[in-house]
Amino acid sequence: MRVPIVAANWKMNKVQAEARAYCRRLRELVPEGFPVELVVFPPFTALGVVREVLGGSQIKWGAQNAHPESKGAFTGEVSLPMLLEYGISYLIVGHSERRNIFGEPDDFIAKKLRSALDSGVCSILCVGEKLEERRAGKAREVVERQLAALAGVSAEELERVVIAYEPVWAIGTGVPARPEDAQEMAASIRRWLADRFGDTAEKVRIQYGGSVKPDNAGEYLKLPDIDGALVGGASLDPDTFFAIAREVAR
Ligand code: PGA
Repeated sequence: MRVPIVAANWKMNKVQAEARAYCRRLRELVPEGFPVELVVFPPFTALGVVREVLGGSQIKWGAQNAHPESKGAFTGEVSLPMLLEYGISYLIVGHSERRNIFGEPDDFIAKKLRSALDSGVCSILCVGEKLEERRAGKAREVVERQLAALAGVSAEELERVVIAYEPVWAIGTGVPARPEDAQEMAASIRRWLADRFGDTAEKVRIQYGGSVKPDNAGEYLKLPDIDGALVGGASLDPDTFFAIAREVAR
């Protein structure tokens, strides 16, 4: 049995006062023993506030990014040891905005994943094709190339990795993937994992991401290979984010 996981990727949103109000409200909403793992990803500057408000609750928090080195001359970057001081449980790696806007290549993403696993944190590895790649029939090939970041990861470590399938054309567009297409890709990801990691593949949670809203979240979670959602826009309001989590819990 895989515990569903729903994550809020705030991206570059919310100053500390907004983060505090959000987390207070979310804590109020989540009942004790809620059967879904919830993770909030604030910007770096709000991590302290998020820890202060969510500490001691069942809601976890993580970082949207980290440099793979632990220290050094990397102006503007933040490392995992720095983030661990804020009690993060998760790190997002390979988000399409990091890949496409900031030009992060696959090997750099693999280093970040390695660094997260070595630091003892869990990771959400995002994969997903662009529209032209899907149209050219290359979606699977692209996703498998991105999954290669898992080379060198042990089966034991894989249990700390969540895969988020996020087709780039569905992110922030209001046009989600059809549930059957999301399931097809999630199943193909699981087969890929099974070929390399055996039975551990059955333990790995695969999220769908891209224009998830309260009214479509339930459709994805019915699918056999999808175990949660990575939510951007609709996660910015705590009531809407919790409405998605409730759909997943049903
Ligand atoms: P969206 O973003 O929910 O706004 O489409 C998803 C993501 O980028 O993780």
